[in-house]
Amino acid sequence: MEQTQTKRIVPVNRIILGITGGIAAYKAAELLRLLIKQSMEVQVVMTEAACHFITPTTMQGLSGKPVFTDQWDASVPNSMAHINLSRAADAILIAPASADFIAKLAHGLANDLLSTLCLARNCPLIVAPAMNREMWLNAAMQRNIAQLIADGVQVLGPDNGVQACGEEGMGRMLEAEQLAQDVLAFFQPKLLSGKKILVTAGPTYEAIDAVRGITNRSSGKMGYAIAQAALELGAEVTLVSGPTALAKPQGAQGVDVQSAAQMFEVVKQHVGSCDIFISVAAVADYRVAQPSAQKIKKSVSNVALELVPNPDILAYVASLPKPPFCVGFAAESENLAEHAEQKRRSKKLPLLVGNLAQHAIGSDDNELVLFEDSGSHILPRANKLTLARQLMQHIAHRYKGASN
Ligand code: C5P
Repeated sequence: MEQTQTKRIVPVNRIILGITGGIAAYKAAELLRLLIKQSMEVQVVMTEAACHFITPTTMQGLSGKPVFTDQWDASVPNSMAHINLSRAADAILIAPASADFIAKLAHGLANDLLSTLCLARNCPLIVAPAMNREMWLNAAMQRNIAQLIADGVQVLGPDNGVQACGEEGMGRMLEAEQLAQDVLAFFQPKLLSGKKILVTAGPTYEAIDAVRGITNRSSGKMGYAIAQAALELGAEVTLVSGPTALAKPQGAQGVDVQSAAQMFEVVKQHVGSCDIFISVAAVADYRVAQPSAQKIKKSVSNVALELVPNPDILAYVASLPKPPFCVGFAAESENLAEHAEQKRRSKKLPLLVGNLAQHAIGSDDNELVLFEDSGSHILPRANKLTLARQLMQHIAHRYKGASN
């Protein structure tokens, strides 16, 4: 079988990072680094107040571009930096967005370069508020934020926690890592808008008695990342999850189950209306034939458990008369290509995603191999959310091709 390295076509998104005057401006340097790492082209614009907290020299050094701070900059030939900059951007991100700057945006004031280019923009505006908790809760601020949301501005955060002033509450700017992820999510093409995706994730738990059970080491991280990536592409996502310690991605309809039998029932309820089924769950192959309702008492003699096979949920869905586009996962400890391809054929799947169990289970990183009729493709080692985004883009294109 032909094995090819998947080429990643990464579109360059051009973003203006606007920095306003607040102590959280120190996080903007890290944010800039992360945005550039995600292949974005970043132009920094700072207000005068921002320059009291972090220097344009730092931001120029990190971005490799001169930083704009002045509306009256004589070096701009047409004296229209606000138009030139906003036309050259796919989005403007203000991080941190101070209370004063949010008030200006809400009222359409334009008395410095950054506020003027926000008013002159023809691209989306994203703001990450950062301020003291009382300022955040102030009625005027809440009015201004509600106005920005009504105007179609995307508001990221703020977060709850300890503040630079020592007080604790809402108002902290989101961490740079989170903001960079949110901005990347914002730019994902809405390839699956209006489509319903059903995802199973995590392990299952098969009871032995009232307190004991059989499970496996699946963390659910890959399945949850896939649900997140599908949401970012505009899909409606139902996430059926075995027991995990993870928070469901915002916007997903979550259904919690314990056993494979419960997962099977929930999948049967939802599968009729879904367009794509992605079976990431590590479903237990066997369950205990007769779990005890009471805790089994310790005894000196051996105890034997009778195990009976669980239904194969994915095989059931894939063999429905009109199945959704089905994607399976296979975690193997050896001979990945051979075992994965054999599973793909026996379950009649257009796409099976293989990974090595020793790389995948519990870890934040993974490496995936996609097995399809056309051959196999590697998605090189990366964190699970990055891989999930690449995989979901691939699935969206395959789904489109299959449904045309
Ligand atoms: O366990 P196995 O390696 O066969 O799993 C391959 C695929 O089948 C996975 O996508 C898994 O979610 C699915 N599966 C299932 N029901 C089972 C066993 C596996 O849906 N009982």
